[in-house]
Amino acid sequence: MGTKLLEARGLCKAFGGIRAVDHVSLSLAPGELCALIGPNGAGKTTLFHLLTGLLRPDAGTVHLRGKNITAWSPPRIWRRGLSRTFQLPEVFPYLSVLENVQVALLSAARQTFVLLRDAALLWHKQASALLAEVGPWRACARPSGHLALRRSKTPGVGHCAGQ
Ligand SMILES: Nc1ncnc2c1ncn2[C@@H]1O[C@H](COP(=O)(O)OP(=O)(O)OP(=O)(O)O)[C@@H](O)[C@H]1O
Ligand SMILES: [Mg+2]
Repeated sequence: MGTKLLEARGLCKAFGGIRAVDHVSLSLAPGELCALIGPNGAGKTTLFHLLTGLLRPDAGTVHLRGKNITAWSPPRIWRRGLSRTFQLPEVFPYLSVLENVQVALLSAARQTFVLLRDAALLWHKQASALLAEVGPWRACARPSGHLALRRSKTPGVGHCAGQ
């Protein structure tokens, strides 16, 4: 696998007679940026699902930092360092933007069951710092579900950064 961060080889996924992903290979080096473009129905989302464990490929493999993660569960893949956002934002709509990022940090630290401490204070500083990195953000206290679609992507990015 060399220095590759992420490497997919020969990924295939069919839904009935539709070959949504047909022998796709790609590799990413550390620090490399890559865009995946294609028309509606080209298979982009399906490919992301395969890379992040939401779908199992019919054929092919995915390696992350040299480790074969094919068919691992999404949480296991996330813990190994591969995060994603979704086409439609998947956030906790009643939590604020900041709280959404705190949830990711709590989960990464396996602090999902903490008694006797005010959860609002946990990882507060780190979540604020992460949001500042994601972009100029003045609506941290607003419920994520109240944001317009474009802006509601930010908590998702914060979720990813929070791992
Ligand atoms: N769960 C599913 N069951 C059946 N067919 C599916 C399923 N998911 C995707 N498909 C089909 O697979 C093909 C690829 O879909 P996919 O959503 O991956 O494309 P996309 O490139 O993300 O499209 P868009 O640009 O519209 O988001 C399409 O023909 C779609 O209808
Ligand atoms: Mg899509």
